[in-house]
Amino acid sequence: MTSGGDAPGMNAAIRAVVRACAYYDVSCIGFYRGYQGMIENDFVDMPPRSVKNIINLGGTVLRSARSADFRTVKGRQQAYHNLKENKVDAMVLIGGDGTFTGGLIFSEEFDIPVVGIPGTIDNDICGTQSTIGYDTALNTAVYAIDKIRDTASSHNRLFFVEVMGRDAGFIALNSGVGAGAEEILIPEEDQALDKLLESLKRSKRSGKLSSIVVCAEGDKTGKNVFELADYVHEHMPEYNTRVTVLGHLQRGGSPSCFDRVLASRLGVKAVEFLLDGQRDIMVGFDGEKIVSTHINSVTKGSHDINRELLRISDILSV
Ligand code: F6P
Repeated sequence: MTSGGDAPGMNAAIRAVVRACAYYDVSCIGFYRGYQGMIENDFVDMPPRSVKNIINLGGTVLRSARSADFRTVKGRQQAYHNLKENKVDAMVLIGGDGTFTGGLIFSEEFDIPVVGIPGTIDNDICGTQSTIGYDTALNTAVYAIDKIRDTASSHNRLFFVEVMGRDAGFIALNSGVGAGAEEILIPEEDQALDKLLESLKRSKRSGKLSSIVVCAEGDKTGKNVFELADYVHEHMPEYNTRVTVLGHLQRGGSPSCFDRVLASRLGVKAVEFLLDGQRDIMVGFDGEKIVSTHINSVTKGSHDINRELLRISDILSV
């Protein structure tokens, strides 16, 4: 099943799980809409040909949902009943930390082995260097910011671009550096407004005519991106400010090659770990090989952002 926010590459992961099951002679079904589909017994048989021509598709063919019913004991009992009826004896969960937390509770309550595959554009899951969808979202954000730069420089404007990341600054930091942003605001760093103004004024004095500030949704300025643009305009009326919120377009689109390969590797390994008798783990990528981490440690926090990138960004925006 896929659960939580969709991410490009989830289909490649579904395909890999289904094909690995066929390869090892294990039958496979897919539940629609995550845990909600399990509760409603809404599923499809997944023989190997059922996943043809989906490796390149964004979204998820199994669709996704955040299930309130699964948070109740009654909902989970119904889900278990349906699993047993369908002779399911292990589950592969593609999603984020909320998906894995639910999976672990379920596994402990009903003794069903689960393996998680990290799929979210936010990259906010520890136990993997990269989540499925993150690379594609980064490329989408950079592509969009490049276009905004054209208008920023043609009209000497200061643009505030909001990217996704309610609790994590991975997309903002990396797309900001990749697109040459002047300033990058992220949830992990308490960037004071006076520091932002100071830095924009310095750039203006050095002869910059236009600038781009990339803000993560959850930055710590205490203002949303529109309030932030107004605040800067009040203190620097010489700047013509504009705001662009990239929003959900970052979640869609055909997955990058990196995400397809990552999803394929994680999907196969998820099945192999289950067949080896491992349970309640998440598969992840350590930069070289596929590794496993107990879901307990995965759900306890995200890995830290690369602070060196903040320093690099400061130097490059001189
Ligand atoms: O997929 C994660 C995420 O993109 C967050 O960065 C964002 O805040 C959230 O999803 C929004 O998701 P939804 O609109 O589905 O609630």
